[in-house]
Amino acid sequence: MTKVLVLGGAGFIGRHACLALHQAGANLVIGSRHPDQIEPRLAPELWGYERRQVRVDQLTEPKAWTSLLEDIDVVLNCVGILRQRGAQTYQRVHCDGPAALAKYAEQSNLRFIQVSALGLKPNAKSRFLSSKLLGEQAIQSTTADWILVRPSLLDGEGGYGAWWLRAVAKLPLFVVPADAKGMLAALDVGELGEALATLCLGSAEQLQLKQSREFDLGGPMALSFREHIESLRRSHTDTKALCITIPGIIARLGAHLCDLLHATPFSFGHWELLQQDNKPKINRLAELLGRPPKPVGIGELKP
Ligand SMILES: NC(=O)c1ccc[n+]([C@@H]2O[C@H](COP(=O)([O-])OP(=O)(O)OC[C@H]3O[C@@H](n4cnc5c(N)ncnc54)[C@H](OP(=O)(O)O)[C@@H]3O)[C@@H](O)[C@H]2O)c1
Repeated sequence: MTKVLVLGGAGFIGRHACLALHQAGANLVIGSRHPDQIEPRLAPELWGYERRQVRVDQLTEPKAWTSLLEDIDVVLNCVGILRQRGAQTYQRVHCDGPAALAKYAEQSNLRFIQVSALGLKPNAKSRFLSSKLLGEQAIQSTTADWILVRPSLLDGEGGYGAWWLRAVAKLPLFVVPADAKGMLAALDVGELGEALATLCLGSAEQLQLKQSREFDLGGPMALSFREHIESLRRSHTDTKALCITIPGIIARLGAHLCDLLHATPFSFGHWELLQQDNKPKINRLAELLGRPPKPVGIGELKP
């Protein structure tokens, strides 16, 4: 049975990937910085699986991964940080740790799947974004059996950003930065979990990895940020909310303030992301699911 270690397995994406892997019959190991404390965040079906302590920021040399990965067939990396704290920097968590993992994977039969994000550009000013691109490039430069997955914005149970957007959509008034001109193809996190499980367990032939090892994923519709909030609102009420457009500079200052105070999921990186399209050029989600993806925004969410 394929043994899969999910790094960040108690996070938003990680939890859904773990559940899908459990349903697909994988031998699962859940990675977390605090493996003794994650039970409340996990579905009961996942309580019985082995857990391992993993601190990606401390695993920045290939050999540091040896004892963690010796008996593992596939590593799925769902680790990410919104804001830096102490040694947990963007550089170490998004780039140096995954780069070392990929270097380790060069010497083994391990498949390494990295969850990254859409919309990463070399000229990004945000280190949140530039560190993710550097991480991707470091992985791509190895001869490891790597796969890159880039989801668009996610909606679903247990996501910090998803919950905030749903909460904003319930208000009678919301603001949109004037420069939020990009289109989003939001997808359901449960479907992303299923797609990740397929990537963990499928053969190279089934996944057509010879053709491409990069999977940009999105939902069925491309909407502006304003339209996305309005569509989330429609699952809650038929009444329309007032949308106020604020100048980009105010949104930028607000994003810096949120970063300074570690408040809300809005950050300078997200302000940059909103200015450009965040939808896949070629959406490979249906290919991994074996069916068309579903629209997001239906039903209530828990935080
Ligand atoms: N959410 C979205 O809409 C979205 C969309 C596209 C891409 N992404 C990307 O997908 C990744 C995961 O996102 P998410 O929404 O699932 O975030 P999340 O809920 O915050 O989960 C991330 C997990 O990373 C783990 N982690 C953080 N720092 C770590 C460290 N130093 N060492 C080991 N583990 C660490 C945490 O697990 P423990 O607390 O258990 O250690 C946390 O649960 C991020 O890179 C994000 O940018 C997210």
